[in-house]
Amino acid sequence: MKIVILLGAPGSGKGTVAGKLASEHASMKHVSSGDLLRGAIAKGTAAGLEAKGYMEKGNLVPDALIATMIKDVVAETEGDVTMLLDGFPRNLAQAKILEEMGAPVTGAVLIDVPDSIIQDRIAGRRTCPKCKAGYHVRNLPPKVEGVCDNCGEALVIRKDDNPETVKDRLVVYHQQTEPLISYYSGKGMLKKVDGTTGVDNVVKAFLEAM
Ligand code: AP5
Repeated sequence: MKIVILLGAPGSGKGTVAGKLASEHASMKHVSSGDLLRGAIAKGTAAGLEAKGYMEKGNLVPDALIATMIKDVVAETEGDVTMLLDGFPRNLAQAKILEEMGAPVTGAVLIDVPDSIIQDRIAGRRTCPKCKAGYHVRNLPPKVEGVCDNCGEALVIRKDDNPETVKDRLVVYHQQTEPLISYYSGKGMLKKVDGTTGVDNVVKAFLEAM
């Protein structure tokens, strides 16, 4: 197993790129920390209950809470798999935790999108609560409005996708997550792709970078 970390602001396209790659390459596995947390909330686990308040405000959940979930997924992943790790690490402390786990990280790819584009991306996002597929009402619409192409479930708007919370999430990103760009760059592990071109172009550039 090897791990490639996806870095980028909220709404930069991390989930879209990793989801598309995993659906097209049997050897790739998309692991999203946000999906793990939303899954725990939906199941009503103790971790989910603890995470809910932080997520609704756009804050990071405690490091130990999300690290335990990631540790479990890393431990259960075996064989010739490339894990596309989306949303973890989210700060320097989490990057150190990942290293202490002995996780085989081979690189980090930043999907670079300016803040000016982010609000529109997130305002138009629709998500499938069942299979986690992501859409955009204009850029990546489903075949039938409001319905998931993959599983037929009704699409939803995420609770933390309102404009005020998105502003807070961007502040958190710049303060806490952005330092990871220099961190991985300093280790010679960082590649950067332009995330403002169409989805297919970004996926192609990402694949070349990793
Ligand atoms: P999480 O779910 O990880 O959210 P995020 O990082 O804010 O990222 P998003 O899912 O919002 O965006 P994305 O980059 O995946 O964009 P997408 O592909 O959907 O985290 C949510 C919360 O959980 C956090 O706020 C925090 O509270 C908590 N959390 C998670 N991990 C944590 C951690 N490690 N530690 C602590 N707390 C943690 O694309 C967005 C839209 O744009 C879509 O509509 C898509 O169709 C469209 N789009 C994508 N690419 C393109 C393109 N190239 N051109 C045009 N449109 C595009």
